[in-house]
Amino acid sequence: MVEPVVARLRSGMSYTIDTARTAYLDLLKRCLVNWLYHDTEHEALVRFRDYALVRRRPFDRKGRENGRDYSIQAHTLVGFKRLENIQHCVETVVRDGIAGDLIETGVWRGGACIFMRGILKAHGVTDRTVWLADSFEGLPKPNAENYPADKGNRLHTYEELAVSLEAVKDLFARYDLLDEQVKFLKGWFRDTLADAPIDALAVFRLDGDLYESTMDALVNLYDRVSPGGFIIVDDYGAYEYCRQAVHDFRAERGINDMIHEVDWTCVYWRKI
Ligand SMILES: C[S@@+](CC[C@H](N)C(=O)[O-])C[C@H]1O[C@@H](n2cnc3c(N)ncnc32)[C@H](O)[C@@H]1O
Repeated sequence: MVEPVVARLRSGMSYTIDTARTAYLDLLKRCLVNWLYHDTEHEALVRFRDYALVRRRPFDRKGRENGRDYSIQAHTLVGFKRLENIQHCVETVVRDGIAGDLIETGVWRGGACIFMRGILKAHGVTDRTVWLADSFEGLPKPNAENYPADKGNRLHTYEELAVSLEAVKDLFARYDLLDEQVKFLKGWFRDTLADAPIDALAVFRLDGDLYESTMDALVNLYDRVSPGGFIIVDDYGAYEYCRQAVHDFRAERGINDMIHEVDWTCVYWRKI
């Protein structure tokens, strides 16, 4: 008679843990995209072609779901759909036992990585690290000689895209998620990624916008992605030059893994 009681208790407990985990991750997403407080009208950055403009604009629910608006208050430029994609990828590699750490190349305020760390915490994962690679001073000037696709790009002039390492650490700490499972690679990708002390990656998220930044990340990290791991490209739809870097790399390496759409710009594929 004892066994059914224990089984019932156990199933009740796992129900409670699942519910608490879902609620924590849901609340984390709402905080990260600033769904709770909404931006005031004068505090929105709006994407216009390649340019991010400061515009008076009311809070836009659809924009925040799709990561179409640039909020000055939110902790990530990634909207709900892309956060859900991150959750899907991280939970899948944990469930399937795909070896490796998680990385984002191009973190801005670090919100997507805060979410990655939160997912690991919610699942009690203690043997994976979240890596944040960024200059922490914005984008590099275009190097049109080596990367003609970036010619004339002006994203390096946007001060809003330059967030210091201290500011990112401070945000992690506010979520109580700054610990030894979070590591930072400060500098240009061309200088930091090749020798980064990372053995294997299970989730590799690229959000560096430029052809150069996308290519530097792929060339230096792709081979470290474990079979069954995920490659997520944030800017594939938004920027022609980012898409071109992905196509060039995949063609060069003969990669045919199916590309899946997340929203209007973000895509991912799973390494076979
Ligand atoms: C669009 S933001 C990233 C948004 C972020 N993933 C989020 O969750 O909101 C682009 C970031 O990439 C960084 N970046 C772009 N190219 C880089 C490069 N070649 N080396 C280092 N950092 C780079 C910029 O400093 C900036 O923080």
